[in-house]
Amino acid sequence: MRPSPKPGIMKIAPYVPGRARAEGFERPLKLSANENPFVCSAAARAAYLDAAAEMHLYPDANTSRLRAAIAAKFDLEPERLVFGAGSDEIFAMAAQAYLGAGDNAVEPQYGFAAWKIATRAAGGEPRFAPERNFTVDVDALLASLDARTRIVFLANPANPTGTWLPFSEIERLHAGLPGNVLLVLDGAYAECAAGIEGFSDGLDWARDKDNVLVTRTFSKVYGLASLRIGWANAPAPVADALNRIRLPFSVPRAGEAAAVAALSDDAFVARSVSHFVEGRRQLDGALRGLGLETLPSATNFVTARFDDAQAVDEALARRGILVRRLANYGMPDWLRISVGTAAEIERVIEALREVLDHLKGE
Ligand SMILES: Cc1ncc(COP(=O)(O)O)c(C=O)c1O
Repeated sequence: MRPSPKPGIMKIAPYVPGRARAEGFERPLKLSANENPFVCSAAARAAYLDAAAEMHLYPDANTSRLRAAIAAKFDLEPERLVFGAGSDEIFAMAAQAYLGAGDNAVEPQYGFAAWKIATRAAGGEPRFAPERNFTVDVDALLASLDARTRIVFLANPANPTGTWLPFSEIERLHAGLPGNVLLVLDGAYAECAAGIEGFSDGLDWARDKDNVLVTRTFSKVYGLASLRIGWANAPAPVADALNRIRLPFSVPRAGEAAAVAALSDDAFVARSVSHFVEGRRQLDGALRGLGLETLPSATNFVTARFDDAQAVDEALARRGILVRRLANYGMPDWLRISVGTAAEIERVIEALREVLDHLKGE
């Protein structure tokens, strides 16, 4: 006899994070996790350092200051907000609250890896709806639903493809869902797509919906990935359910202080977003210039196809540059490259030019 995990747990493929180490390099160029190359707002850093004086205190279990700041900024009702240790924890809470044995959660073919972990951990079954040209296909999502579907996960724009849907498609998806299916609309990269015609982050639209949970994060444009702060706008009964299972102190005190400061630093966010828009255009153009196929990106990364993605990934790592392999997403020929600073974009393109020349010559 020995302890055995619940059914489903051992089917979970452990999350593979973007590589963080390159042998022989103290500080490799990390373009593997879509982090912010400008670090974070100076005000957020100062707030974080100030909070060091209170390290002995538990966080505010209600995340009251950040709750009030987000509600004011986005014109939302404070009591409908849910906080978590990154949006990852919110996906886990949603799955725990709404999926039981025999239930399923539908997601696109190249859905974000944390969703299937959350689904299986809760005892549910993930279902994958085929995409078209690496873009979410609403008809395929709808065709994948059955009577036991309780959640549909969708990121707009999406990771790891970077592609996006016009908001009319999200509305069409929602219109086709039974009322007892929760649509989790993951906006981890929503700020990066703000200027695109037909795109909407859905926060306004979700205001009066009973079955839409919109998640957001401080990990990307705000540059606070290490602090693990995600939030969601939820219908009141969904917020109530999630808050009952939420670990009370999952958003740290210093993280909350930094996030409040980051939220009011509009200049930092605007600079990051405009850099991501311009940077992805440059990165995409340069990759195409090297003869590579890329996916159109509305995010802070570009995903490109290689003849031998593994060899390219390894050769870049030997040059101290880390990008993201996507074999675990079922995209073994593709690499995802985060938008770094202008100099970092040049460096990765130069390195790629060398590596591709070298591989061609082999
Ligand atoms: C689509 C998507 N959703 C959510 C997350 C996770 O964000 P967080 O850091 O808030 O857990 C990521 C992170 O890469 C992501 O790509």
